[in-house]
Amino acid sequence: MFDIERFLEEKLNPLYKIHYSIWVYWWPLWRRLSGKSILQQWEKLELVKEGQFFLDYGCGTGSFTIPAARIVTNGGKVYALDYFPRQLEIVQEKAQKEGLTNIETILSSSQTGLPDESIDVVWMCDVLHEIKDRRMVLEEICRVLKGDGVLAIHDGMGERVMDYTDGLFSLTATDGKLLKFVK
Ligand SMILES: C[S@@+](CC[C@H](N)C(=O)[O-])C[C@H]1O[C@@H](n2cnc3c(N)ncnc32)[C@H](O)[C@@H]1O
Repeated sequence: MFDIERFLEEKLNPLYKIHYSIWVYWWPLWRRLSGKSILQQWEKLELVKEGQFFLDYGCGTGSFTIPAARIVTNGGKVYALDYFPRQLEIVQEKAQKEGLTNIETILSSSQTGLPDESIDVVWMCDVLHEIKDRRMVLEEICRVLKGDGVLAIHDGMGERVMDYTDGLFSLTATDGKLLKFVK
């Protein structure tokens, strides 16, 4: 039988690779404009604090990895995960330039390799809609998130996000496109 999902994945994957090789140049410019209001949402929702362990899932070129690393400081740590190696190289270059030593990159499309209940905040900005197996990724996030940890999703999917979080996370706050969950 014709498998539409497999067909799309095979056709889209090479296109995604081309898209993302160009994307690394224009996206940081867009984030310079759009990133400020998202960082204000972090403040409003008191999302990131000193000493925390923070996972930036689908970190891209690190537009939020770097601010998070500055906030958690050296008592905490930021894990920057993405499935494109070039994005992670850019994150490492930025961290080095800024003298930030509390960032670790993870190359993956789903599993984090992190211990159970080790993360205070998981941040997913404009990534969930791109993930094929959303439920599997959210189960992995649930595994690594501490009992009192927070999952924050900023995505144009809006409340459709809850089709995938149901049974794993409960919504505690919303602010525009930002949804804040606990286990
Ligand atoms: C639109 S960008 C957003 C980047 C960053 N979060 C931001 O808001 O600036 C989406 C990122 O998610 C990554 N991504 C997409 N699907 C992924 C997956 N299954 N696992 C890991 N990263 C993924 C892409 O490589 C890309 O860097």
